[in-house]
Amino acid sequence: MINDLWYKNAIIYCLSVEAYMDSNGDGVGDFPGLMRRLDYLHGLGVTAIWLMPFQPSPRRDGGYDITDYYNVDPRYGTLGDFVEFAHGCKQRGIRLLIDLVVNHTSDQHPWFQEACRNPDSPYRDWYVWADKKPKNANSGLVFPGVQKSTWTYDEVAKAWYFHRFYEFQPDLDTASPHVQAEILKIMGFWLQLGVSGFRMDAVPFVIAEKGAKTGKPVEQYGMLRTFREFLQWRCGDAIILAEANVLPESDMSYFGDDGDRMHMMFNFAVNQTLFYALAAAEVKPLVKAMEATRTRPQTAQWGSFLRNHDELDLGRLTQKQRETVFQAFAPEADMQLYGRGIRRRLAPMLQGDRRRLELAYSLMATLPGTPVLRYGDEIGMGDDLSLPERNCARTPMQWSPEPHGGFTAGDTPTMPVIDQGPYGYPHVNVAAQRRDPDSLLNWMERIIRMRKEVPEIGWGEFTILPVDASCVLAVRYDWRNNAVIVIHNLGAAPLEVRLDGGAVGDVKHVLINLLSEDHSHAGEDGQYRILLEPYGYRWYRAGGLDYLLRRTEI
Ligand code: NOJ
Repeated sequence: MINDLWYKNAIIYCLSVEAYMDSNGDGVGDFPGLMRRLDYLHGLGVTAIWLMPFQPSPRRDGGYDITDYYNVDPRYGTLGDFVEFAHGCKQRGIRLLIDLVVNHTSDQHPWFQEACRNPDSPYRDWYVWADKKPKNANSGLVFPGVQKSTWTYDEVAKAWYFHRFYEFQPDLDTASPHVQAEILKIMGFWLQLGVSGFRMDAVPFVIAEKGAKTGKPVEQYGMLRTFREFLQWRCGDAIILAEANVLPESDMSYFGDDGDRMHMMFNFAVNQTLFYALAAAEVKPLVKAMEATRTRPQTAQWGSFLRNHDELDLGRLTQKQRETVFQAFAPEADMQLYGRGIRRRLAPMLQGDRRRLELAYSLMATLPGTPVLRYGDEIGMGDDLSLPERNCARTPMQWSPEPHGGFTAGDTPTMPVIDQGPYGYPHVNVAAQRRDPDSLLNWMERIIRMRKEVPEIGWGEFTILPVDASCVLAVRYDWRNNAVIVIHNLGAAPLEVRLDGGAVGDVKHVLINLLSEDHSHAGEDGQYRILLEPYGYRWYRAGGLDYLLRRTEI
């Protein structure tokens, strides 16, 4: 058993098997197709893959409505194909994370069906029931505007059941010892098949008290320790990456004061303020969010991300800030969702402006944490707003200029491939970009490579360096006698940034540029003067005669 903290300096790549690569021409991506693309991912330099749900499911919520936790949806292959894939990852030194969706099942899951049919079934207590419509039935909706209620009457069960999400996703009673035992069994099953951990779905709801009489749900944090203990007993280097969009003051309750709960969490506070910073060219709220989320146990880690498969949730910004982001990146009503977010992909939000895309990904790669990249972002894929809700940003991967972007040799991809406009596959595809040394794909590969060589970011402590421009973020990371300084100009105008030599603390009076030959030397007055172009960014290692290399061994 190894207790390796590999996730502290990793590059995670999230993909959906369904949308990645179809090997048999039926229009649905599958494991054998994904297997053929493993060397592509290896070449890109990702160190971990996060697979979105691939278990059997009616797929009314992108697979987050599971009917069998111990299998692979036959459209994607078999358990045998999964194991081949897991082995392929292992051979290449790539870690595999999978979604763990245990807040709820599909209403088609045999447990729920049995629970409805037979009130004496042991499965009845696996779900959350009420005889009468609860008073809180219209509150706590996660998908306002689409979801109608959090309680629905089932004709067969002759009772109301609770569902935090859509009505076809009945909540499991996660407080039940039987349900908890089953959750551990599910984790054990996939660990045995070679995964290195789980992206745990909807964690605050998993641990919330559930029931008709519950007012403001109280979190049962002890459950998180139970999950972690089990995971580490079975597999010392496996992790849980929690999806928990909570206020920073709750972070430590999720990580655990002794680092005994979640290993990783997505940093939603930084995500939202980062988009505000990009929209308003103003970094103050971002810095505030970075400071507010600074504290975490040594072994814990943030997941830094830009866009994911859901809407970009801006619910925690002030109304004014949210309006600024909407104005800049989603001015039309159709681009917004659930009254709080944006459903577009990043490239169209930034109008395909390469300078801004590089700026955004450079920021993502250098914020405190481990970057989590979404499939297609490496080539700047767009969205299809004619598709409902969040599906607009879940279209198939664009591999080549061949029909359907090379995703399928069949005629009918389940989800249409984007074929029109500036983001259509004839223009945006992997084959074209891999031949072009200046493409976004090749830039991404270089930035991933460099990020892996800068463990100071994943492991170190950060300091915000004072600069006198509100659109510039300058951050220094220190770790084991090494220091790295990253500077980003979020503004549209060029400017000169002055960094005080004292703050930089550079013994050799030189900042080594990690991405080009353009190093920076301190002036007579000990100040560094750095000229930044519009949306410009710099990664420097402080001092060190050995050029790119770190000063001490790690
Ligand atoms: C969070 C997932 O990210 C989202 O896609 C899903 O709809 C809900 N959880 C429900 O599982």
